[in-house]
Order: sequence, then C-alpha cells, then structure tokens
Amino acid sequence: MIETKHITKIVNTSEGQLQILQPISFNVKAGESVAIVGASGSGKSTLLSLLAGLDQVSEGEIYLDSAGLHGMDEEQRARLRGEKVGFIFQSFMLVQSLTALENIMLPAEIAGMDNPRELGQQILEQVGLGHRGTHYPNQLSGGEQQRVAIARAFITKPKILFADEPTGNLDAANSDKVEKLLFDLNRESDTTLVLVTHDPELASQCQRQLHMHAGELTEVTEQPSGSDADIQQMQAS
Ligand SMILES: Nc1ncnc2c1ncn2[C@@H]1O[C@H](COP(=O)(O)OP(=O)(O)O)[C@@H](O)[C@H]1O
Ligand SMILES: [Mg+2]
Repeated sequence: MIETKHITKIVNTSEGQLQILQPISFNVKAGESVAIVGASGSGKSTLLSLLAGLDQVSEGEIYLDSAGLHGMDEEQRARLRGEKVGFIFQSFMLVQSLTALENIMLPAEIAGMDNPRELGQQILEQVGLGHRGTHYPNQLSGGEQQRVAIARAFITKPKILFADEPTGNLDAANSDKVEKLLFDLNRESDTTLVLVTHDPELASQCQRQLHMHAGELTEVTEQPSGSDADIQQMQAS
C-alpha cells in the first residue's frame, strides 16, 4: 500500500540546507496498522506528511497505492489525497464556522459523493455524536472534536488513514475512546492506518512500530502476538 525508497527531506533555513530526514525505506501492507515513534524532533511528523502527500520528498521514491507521489506536483497530490487519504491532526483542525455535521460532510462534498448529509449523519452516529451534529467545534470538548475529525477523515472511505498524535491533546478517558474508534474503523473498513504517537500504549496496539531517531529510521519492531487484531481473531474463531 505504501512503498518508500531512500526518501529524504532537506529544507532551506537561514543557516543553509538542513537534512531533516536521512534516506528511509520501508513498506506498509494494505490493512496494516503502523506506529511511528521517537523523541520530539526526530522527524516523525515530517515523515508522515511525506507519506500522506502533504509535503514533497527531496530525494527518493514514494508510492501510495502504486501511484508515484514523488513525481507529482501539488495539484496532483491534492487529487490523490482526496481519493485515497484521510488525515487526522493533533490539533483537530476543524473549520470553526461549520457545524460538526458540516465539517464531516465537507470531504464528501468535495469528492462529489452522492449523499454527503446522510453519510455524514451516519458516521457521526458511528463515532457516538449523532446528537451533536448542529454544534460548532467550540461547543465540543477536545475528545468530541477529535471524534468529529476522525469521522471527517473516514467519510470518503480512504484506503489509508494517517494520524499525527491523534491523542496528544486528550485526557486519558478521551484518548481511550479515540484509540478504540481508530482501530475499530481500521478493522471494519480494512483501512491502512499509519499514526505518529508518543503514547507507548497506543503504539503497542499497532502491528508494527517504526522507531525514528534524529531523522533516521533506526529500528522496526513487530507486535509479536497478542496484538489487538490477533486477539480479535482469536475471539472470533
Ligand atoms: N520547514 C522546516 N524548516 C526547518 N526545520 C524544520 C522544518 N520542518 C521540520 N524541521 C525540523 O526537523 C526536525 C524534525 O521535525 P518533526 O518532523 O516535526 O519532528 P517530530 O514530529 O518527530 O517532533 C525538527 O528538528 C524540526 O525543528
Ligand atoms: Mg510531530
């Protein structure tokens, strides 16, 4: 689903060029859940933005569902994002002048889907906020806003969902709700999930962890067994 070959990121600063990602190569399979972990400043958000097509690689190749992102301009990447990608930000990034339901409908409207309002209401109910559709973001708690943001990311049924510290601004109870929702949707819709987190408990629920250190991918660890998905399968059989 995702393939990267020696991708790097170099930015221009007042002190000259700064390489913030060393060549990184890895693959993510369809339906897989992957956590990117590492200290603050290690390059996690930069890597996630490249994978999601929000930013352009300096060197190397990056394929999203077989499409070569590295050769695309901003307009082409925007189209690809609209078709295949959902993104969840730590700070929710909801449109303050739109209601919860309108926020959720927005990507479906942009994508020209048939029933944005019905779909939006349906998914709003799925995230447990069916009764809050007419409320504006500033009338919702952090946890509720993040659930609206997740609903917005899922309405187009993206093949790949990216999340940057999705529980970073939430208290423990709301973190749990948001976590459960992410993995439920990942399983139900078979969405590939790539998230950045500081939270070891959230990271350990992913099938794989990519460890970043000072712009380098230093280690990849697999969830041995007993991962959430395995437990679900065991319970089902
Ligand atoms: N546009 C930029 N210009 C200069 N430095 C940047 C830029 N973007 C990120 N950085 C630097 O690159 C490093 C990695 O940043 P980031 O990917 O945000 O790390 P993380 O998400 O792991 O905290 C940091 O040291 C950050 O200051
Ligand atoms: Mg970050």
